Amino acid sequence: MQTEFIYLAYLVAAVLFILGIKGLTKPRTAVKGNQLSALGMLIAVVVTLFDQNILSFQWIIAGVIIGGVIGATMATKVQMTAMPQMVAVLNGFGGGASLAVALANFYGLNHDLVPMISISATVLIGAVTLSGSFVAYAKLQELISGNPIAVPGNKVLNAVLLIAAIGLSIAIVNEPTNTALMVALVAVAIVLGLVLVIPIGGADMPVVIALLNSYSGIAAATAGFITNNTVLIVSGSLVGASGLILTSIMCKAMNRSLTNVLFGVMGEVGETVDADEVYAGKVKSSSPEEVAMLLETAERVVIVPGYGLAMAQAQHAVRDLANVLEERGTEVQYAIHPVAGRMPGHMNVLLAEAEVPYEQLVEMDTINPQFEQTDVAIVIGANDVTNPMAREDKGSPIYGMPILNVDKAKTVVVVKRSLSPGFAGLPNPLFAKDNALMLFGDGKKAIVDLSASLKEAD
Ligand code: TAP
Repeated sequence: MQTEFIYLAYLVAAVLFILGIKGLTKPRTAVKGNQLSALGMLIAVVVTLFDQNILSFQWIIAGVIIGGVIGATMATKVQMTAMPQMVAVLNGFGGGASLAVALANFYGLNHDLVPMISISATVLIGAVTLSGSFVAYAKLQELISGNPIAVPGNKVLNAVLLIAAIGLSIAIVNEPTNTALMVALVAVAIVLGLVLVIPIGGADMPVVIALLNSYSGIAAATAGFITNNTVLIVSGSLVGASGLILTSIMCKAMNRSLTNVLFGVMGEVGETVDADEVYAGKVKSSSPEEVAMLLETAERVVIVPGYGLAMAQAQHAVRDLANVLEERGTEVQYAIHPVAGRMPGHMNVLLAEAEVPYEQLVEMDTINPQFEQTDVAIVIGANDVTNPMAREDKGSPIYGMPILNVDKAKTVVVVKRSLSPGFAGLPNPLFAKDNALMLFGDGKKAIVDLSASLKEAD
C-alpha cells in the first residue's frame, strides 16, 4: 500500500478521534462522538493490517468477531452502576495489550536506542496499568474489600518500587538482550500497580480509574514508538492527556490533591464531627402529601440528583414528577454537580436514560446564582455535593469543595433514607436548616409517592 495513502488514512483517523472527543464533551453530541471515534479506530486498524502486510486474516477476523461479541454483550448487559469497573477492566486490557506489544518486540531483533527506551517505558507503564486496573475492578466488583486496605509503609514502598523499576528500565536499554532484567521489570511493575491501588478506598476509585485510563493511553503512545505507528502515538497521547485532565477536574471538584487521593485517607477527619450536635432537635421530617402542597404553588423547581438517585434507580420516577410539574406550568431544571454520584457524568448518563431534555440539565456554576429565585429545590440522594460545611466551615475536610447552593432556595426538600452521611462521612448541616424538610425513604418510592400526591391534588 502507498505510504502517502497510509499516512492520509492515519490523519483521517486522528481527526476523527479528536472530533469524537469533542463530541463527548456534551450529552447531545456524545453518541455521535463515540461513533466518530469508533470509525476512526476501524480505519486505523484496517490500514495498519494492510500496511504491515499481515496476511493471516482468518485469525484477525476470528479475533474481531469474538472480541466484538464479548464487547457488545458486556456493553448491553452491564448496569450503569457497574460502569466504573467495566472501564477499569478495559483500561487493564489496554495496558496489557501495550505490555504484550513491548514484550514481543523485546524478543524481536531491533535493539536500537529509541525502540529500547520505548520498550522499557511501555513495559513499566503497561504492567502498572494492568495490575492496578484489575485491583480497581476487584474492589468495585466487591471481589475484595472496597475499603482502603492499609499497606504498611505505603509511600516508602511505592518510592522504592518506582526507583527499582526506573533503574531496571535503564539497565534494559543498556543490555537489550538480558531477559532476567526484563522479567524483573515486569514483576516489579506489576507489584507497583498492586501497591498503588490496594490502599485506595472504593469511592476514590473513579479518580484512580481516570488516572489508570491516562496510563493506558501513555502506554499505547510509547508502544507506538516501538512499532513506529503514528496513529497509535496520536490516539495514545489523546487518551493520556484527556485521562489526566479528567483526573484533575475530579480532584478539583472534590477539593483534593491527587497525592491526597493516592496516599491520603478520606473520612478520617469527618469522624470527629458530631452528627448529634449538628442535627439535635432541628431536623424536620415531612411527608409526600406535605411536599406536594408546597409544589402545588411553586413556580420554579430545581431537582438535585446525587449518588442515591443511582442507587434507587429513580431517574424515570424523577422524569415523571417533572412531567407532572410541567403540566401544571411549573418550570423544572436539574442541577448537575461535576462529582455527584461515583463517576464522571454519572448524573447526565442516568437522566439521559430517562430522556430528560438536555437543556434542562444545568451545570453548577450556572445554576448556583439561580437558587435564590427557586421556590423548591428537591435534593434526591445527594449529600456531600450540597453540604454547606464546604462553604462555611474552615476546619471541615471538604472546606473549599464547590457545592450546589441549594440552601439558598426558598425551601429545600431532601429525599434520602436516613441521616446517614455520604461518601465524605460528614454530617450535613443543610438537613437542620430552617428552610429544609426531610422526606425520608427510598429515592424511587418517595418520588413516586410525591407524584401520586401531586396528581391527587389536581
Ligand atoms: P453522597 O454524598 O455519597 O451521598 C449519597 C446519599 O445517597 C447518601 O447520603 C445516602 O443516604 C443516599 N442514598 C443511598 N441510597 C439511597 C436510596 N436508595 N434512596 C435515597 N437515597 C439514597 O453523594 P453525592 O452528593 O452524589 O456526592 C458524591 C460524593 O462522591 C462526593 O463526596 C464526591 O467527592 C465523591 N466522589 C465522586 C466521584 C465522581 S467522579 N462522581 C468520584 C469519587 C468520589 P441514606 O443512606 O440516608 O439514604
